[in-house]
Amino acid sequence: MKENKYDEEKFFAKYSEMDRSRNGLQAAGEWSELQKLLPDFAGKKVLDLGCGYGWHCRYAAEQGAVYVLGTDISQKMLEEARTRNLVPGVEYQCAAMEDLDFPPESFDVVISSLALHYVEDFAPLIAKVARWLKPQGELVFSAEHPVFTAYGTQDWYYAPDGSILHFPVDRYFEEGARQAVFLEENVTKYHRTLTTYLETLLQNGFALQHVVEPQPPESMRDQPGMREEWRRPMMLLVSAQKKSSSQ
Ligand SMILES: C[S@@+](CC[C@H](N)C(=O)[O-])C[C@H]1O[C@@H](n2cnc3c(N)ncnc32)[C@H](O)[C@@H]1O
Repeated sequence: MKENKYDEEKFFAKYSEMDRSRNGLQAAGEWSELQKLLPDFAGKKVLDLGCGYGWHCRYAAEQGAVYVLGTDISQKMLEEARTRNLVPGVEYQCAAMEDLDFPPESFDVVISSLALHYVEDFAPLIAKVARWLKPQGELVFSAEHPVFTAYGTQDWYYAPDGSILHFPVDRYFEEGARQAVFLEENVTKYHRTLTTYLETLLQNGFALQHVVEPQPPESMRDQPGMREEWRRPMMLLVSAQKKSSSQ
C-alpha cells in the first residue's frame, strides 16, 4: 500500500512552511551539487518522478526542455506545482511513480528529487525508467542516503544536556520499510543499501556518471539546524546514462 503522506492536511501544512517549499531550489541545501549533475536540457523531453511543487520541472523548461512531465502521488503538492511552476512546456500528472507507464524511449531525461526513498521496490521502477529513456538518455536523482535511512528514526542520539552525541547507523543490511519521524510526523520511508542503489542501475543497462554525497554550501552553515549536516551524509545524488537501446 503506497503512502500518500503529503496529502495529509497537517503534514502538508508543515511541509509548506519549510524554507525549500517557500523559496524553491536556491533554498535547498543539495541544489548547488544536484545542478552540476543535470544534463543540458535544450530540446529534451523530461520526466520528473515525485515532482512535488515542480521546482525542477520549471528549471528544466527554463533551460530549454521542450516537454516536461511532472508526476506525483499527492494532489496537494501538484496544486502547488500548478500554481507556482506551470510554465509553457510543463504538464503535471497525479500518479504513484510505480504505476506509471509510457511507450519505450519516450524521454531524454528522467529526474527525481528526494522521492525514491518512498518507493518500496526500486528494481522494477528502474527497469521501467530504462525502457522509457532513449539510448544515451540520462537519469539523475537524489534520495535520502542509506546512512540516513538505515536505523529508521532519522534523529541524533543526544546527551542528557541535549547536545548531540552521534547519529545512529544500524540494521544497514536489512532493507525495507522504516517508520521515520519527519516534520514531527510518522512517515514510512524505505531503506536500501548503497549497493542496491548503484548495482540496480548497472544491472539495468546504465553507466554511472557521478555519485555525490553533498554537503550544503558554506553560505548555509549558520542557518538553524544546518551545522549538523557536516557530520553525516543525508543525501545521495546519482547521475547515470542509458548505454544502448531499450531492453
Ligand atoms: C520531499 S518531496 C520532494 C518534492 C520535489 N521532488 C522536490 O525536490 O522539491 C517528496 C515527494 O514525493 C512524492 N511521493 C512520495 N511517494 C510517491 C510515489 N510513490 N509516487 C510519486 N510520488 C511520490 C510526495 O508526494 C512528495 O511530493
